[in-house]
Amino acid sequence: MKILVTGAKGMMGTDLCRVLLENGHEVVATDIQEMDVRDFGSVMKVIQETKPVMVMHLAALTDVDGCERDPDAAFLTNALGTQNVALACQKHDIEMVYNSTLSVFNGEKAEAYTEFDTPDPRSWYSRSKYQGELFVEKLLRRSYIMRAGWMFGGGLKDKKFVAKIIELAQQRPTLKAVDDKFGSPTYTVDISKGIARMAETGLYGKYHMVNTGKPASRYEVAEKILEYAGITSCQLSPVSSAEFPLPAHRPRMECGRNMQLELRGLNLMRPWEDALREYIASIL
Ligand SMILES: NC(=O)c1ccc[n+]([C@@H]2O[C@H](COP(=O)([O-])OP(=O)(O)OC[C@H]3O[C@@H](n4cnc5c(N)ncnc54)[C@H](OP(=O)(O)O)[C@@H]3O)[C@@H](O)[C@H]2O)c1
Repeated sequence: MKILVTGAKGMMGTDLCRVLLENGHEVVATDIQEMDVRDFGSVMKVIQETKPVMVMHLAALTDVDGCERDPDAAFLTNALGTQNVALACQKHDIEMVYNSTLSVFNGEKAEAYTEFDTPDPRSWYSRSKYQGELFVEKLLRRSYIMRAGWMFGGGLKDKKFVAKIIELAQQRPTLKAVDDKFGSPTYTVDISKGIARMAETGLYGKYHMVNTGKPASRYEVAEKILEYAGITSCQLSPVSSAEFPLPAHRPRMECGRNMQLELRGLNLMRPWEDALREYIASIL
């Protein structure tokens, strides 16, 4: 089918476009240059001209601390930008996938969040992404909301945790990582394959889609990164998040359970350690 992807040049967009092409889909890859999602006129024009069967909407301001400093910018792109895409999909009766985040929860729960827990976002990034979810749900009957965890992947586009840890560990003899924040690592390739699978089902709704396995702290993920990258020259030590004050609130618990997928027998996500090992092997 013909699928328009927004945010196609980003960390996940790069892998999603490749996975869709491998699955035989026709892909219209757009990023801010081709279709600025803040511009309703541009969104309507591009979607009207390209006539996709489905839009997979990834475009977002993803710098969590940047969003905290400029909440209006976060809302303009992440909430209103998503409303613009959803309105265009509504007008042309197009199915939509919206990529959201497990940070829509407040992080106070002791275990992993399911789709049946109530969001209570605490940072401006998370609030703006949650408002995006509400627009999609309100405007479209035929939509999928996919919540991801701590994303890794992207190869050359990787500007997140894995790339940072490898770069720093190659330069320094010691490194600290936080051991009191927990999340579900999510490989961009695995979630892309999962989204491609779900998009064929017609099972519209809200899904958590993270790699499986034990909830991990940033420290535990960093330990595995060093192990899989074969870096032995750097000593890693655990620290409290209080040592790294950041502008935006990070939930203590940002783990997700793919409960909807599990109950439907559709949870094909693998343990995050296996995915991380494969990703690191692919970039080194
Ligand atoms: N990364 C994570 O850990 C994570 C976790 C859960 C959910 N998500 C969600 O998953 C999606 C993809 O994340 P990602 O990590 O791949 O993000 P990313 O690498 O930052 O990619 C987002 C892309 O959107 C583009 N963009 C920004 N503003 C735009 C606009 N106004 N119009 C069109 N495009 C615009 C960005 O361009 P510039 O680079 O030029 O700004 C970038 O190419 C996002 O919706 C994000 O909220 C991410």
